[in-house]
Amino acid sequence: TIAYLNGEFVPLEQARISPLDRGFLFGDGIYEVIPSYQGKMVGFNQHMARFANGLAAIEIDFSIDKDEWRTLVQRLIDDNRETLGDNIGVYLHISRGADTRRFHAYPEGVTPTVFGFAFALSAPVKADRSIHPGASVSLAEDLRWERCHIKSTALLGNVMHFQQSVKEGNAETILYNHQHEITEASSSNVFIIKNGEAFTPPLDNQLLPGITRMLVIECLAMAGIPLTEKVITVDELLAADEVWITSSGKEMLPIVSVGGQQISNGKVGPVWEQVFTIYSEQKF
Ligand code: PDD
Repeated sequence: TIAYLNGEFVPLEQARISPLDRGFLFGDGIYEVIPSYQGKMVGFNQHMARFANGLAAIEIDFSIDKDEWRTLVQRLIDDNRETLGDNIGVYLHISRGADTRRFHAYPEGVTPTVFGFAFALSAPVKADRSIHPGASVSLAEDLRWERCHIKSTALLGNVMHFQQSVKEGNAETILYNHQHEITEASSSNVFIIKNGEAFTPPLDNQLLPGITRMLVIECLAMAGIPLTEKVITVDELLAADEVWITSSGKEMLPIVSVGGQQISNGKVGPVWEQVFTIYSEQKF
């Protein structure tokens, strides 16, 4: 496949960076994952806005011209469709760059490393609860850092939490803080439905402001389902009528079991079907 590295399009296997890159040594960088279906990107403007916020938060001085990025991302999609198929995720990554000293402080005068590549996404599922079996997730205390709103490339905390779900045969790990309040999952956001109303944790430093989360909130409004951004406790999660997790790769995944406990009747719910039907039609 064709990738992008520092101003050039190159075959992915030929892309090379320095081992002194601070993205490699410190996880000192910001990334994005933008999904696309049949060549059409989902949530491009929102992804770019979050990218710029992340770079500003860690003081990487790199201004993003939205139109240039749109052209770049579209080319990564178009030029890789023959190889990867119609469902493509584009990974974008800017790290602080290579510095010969290994010194924690942000170095002066270093050129950021800019990298992008395309990968195949699984085909979107049908918005039909009679055929969707639902997924199971693990449940664990959130042991990451307190800056989870920054989409940092330093993902070891997330990776370790996700690995628990792999060991337990689950699709993801939903996380809760010291107060037994749900934050998010290791690579997705969380929604619950209770008595016909939707709830999701409010945005703060404990979770990523997910773009899919934002789009699902728009779909809930279109469906006329009230949505409240409020603290959700573990007990409320387990007592929910429906649980969904959302991300650019998973879209809206309905969850029927959390930490070994069945949610409601253990079947995918009607509100998921209603809202995911709208989501699938919109594809933003
Ligand atoms: N993960 N929370 C975390 C910790 C995430 O890593 C992600 C996305 C989300 C959902 O965000 P969005 O809807 O913008 O994709 C929430 C990406 C897809 C990843 O790391 O691959």
